[in-house]
Amino acid sequence: MSKSAAKKIQAIRGMNDLLPSESPRWQFFEAKVRQLMHRYGFDEIRTPIVEQTALFARSIGEVTDIVEKEMYTFDDRNGDSLTLRPEGTASCVRAAMEHGLLHNQTQRLWYQGPMFRHERPQKGRYRQFHQVGVETYGFDGPDIDAEVILLSARLWQELGLLEHVTLELNSLGSTEARAAYRDKLVAYFDQHHDVLDDDSKRRLTSNPLRILDSKNPAMAEMLNGAPQLMDHLDDESRTHFEQLKAVLDAAGINYVVNPRLVRGLDYYCRTVFEWTTTALGSQGTVCAGGRYDGLVEQLGGKPTPAVGFAMGIERLILLLETLDLIPEEALGGCDVYLLPMDDNATIVALTLAEKLRSELPTLRLQLHCGGGSFKSRMKKADKSNAPVAVLLGEDELAEQAVTLKFLRDDREQLRVSQAELTATLQNLVPH
Ligand code: HAM
Repeated sequence: MSKSAAKKIQAIRGMNDLLPSESPRWQFFEAKVRQLMHRYGFDEIRTPIVEQTALFARSIGEVTDIVEKEMYTFDDRNGDSLTLRPEGTASCVRAAMEHGLLHNQTQRLWYQGPMFRHERPQKGRYRQFHQVGVETYGFDGPDIDAEVILLSARLWQELGLLEHVTLELNSLGSTEARAAYRDKLVAYFDQHHDVLDDDSKRRLTSNPLRILDSKNPAMAEMLNGAPQLMDHLDDESRTHFEQLKAVLDAAGINYVVNPRLVRGLDYYCRTVFEWTTTALGSQGTVCAGGRYDGLVEQLGGKPTPAVGFAMGIERLILLLETLDLIPEEALGGCDVYLLPMDDNATIVALTLAEKLRSELPTLRLQLHCGGGSFKSRMKKADKSNAPVAVLLGEDELAEQAVTLKFLRDDREQLRVSQAELTATLQNLVPH
């Protein structure tokens, strides 16, 4: 074999395998999310991972980091430009418009799945990552802004995260108010041109609001003195924001108004928010979103108010792990290991396993397969992490019984008839 043929192929940088030891954590998180969406009356939508490139360019914005440098874009075999979705909002709007979900009706949708951005990988930042998102359509009042924020807060609460995250809020106002503010901001930055770094100079003409987001310490003082969007809001946006804050106050949700929070996607207006944590280092935003009333129209639909957010699953799992908040029982394993002690017991063991699975549908039972010496079979039983092994040997077959062996407690083994096994396991194993 040539050298190149023998070279092992590896996963793409920034794209992770989810190993069997890790997937129970994801399942734990995903089950909580699914249940929560159900309780809040949100319906799931699933859209393709690939869309026409123009969809993202037109919605996220031509001069954003995502569209300028991070998209996985390619020509397919027909020569059409396609892109692996970098986020879910644009796809959701496209699908909702295409299937008439926005016509004279309101929608509360949620989704989850992989997203793709060609960013520099580091802890909490990947090229394939996963989001859970919600998008609502047809509601223009601040009640729905509050509802989606309260939904996220409940998730944190139920995961034990609420005290470890901070809600940052801002209002970007209407498109017109923002345009007027933009002019003031550019005038201010022009006066301080010498302090701007190269990135900011570039953004001065394309996307000056994003300069406010800069973390460059050399610009901190100048940014502190910049005119604030909050002082230039239109009256309606101001009222909307005040009402949102009043609901959050009434619900006991703490927040910080961050006048420099502008978000990296262009479609937002009015409310924007981020949930951040200090426990993950630099990639501390675990959930982010806001209102995007103009997007449906921008993509060719009727004006439709919209609000949503997306959370990064990898970051949330990392946070749960860091804070040791994933309960032991969520971490997989099985309740019972059923072990034929030699090959003569195989058929009875298989039949018994199926009977137990019918009678105890929530029992997690692993059947020993693959033969082996008694010693190696017992080793596998031990490795399964099950608290109880059910043994079937010559004596047990003769007596139509089984032996229960306790693998984690110092406890005498038990001989139980096969007829009584269901009832015995029901009492023994919490499942
Ligand atoms: P976003 O701020 O680009 O917003 O992403 C939302 C969240 O996805 C981030 O706060 C972060 O937790 C996670 N995330 C983003 N990029 C990465 C990455 N490279 N690696 C790991 N996690 C990442 C949106 O995507 C909007 N569509 C949110 C939205 C929905 N707004 C309205 N509706």
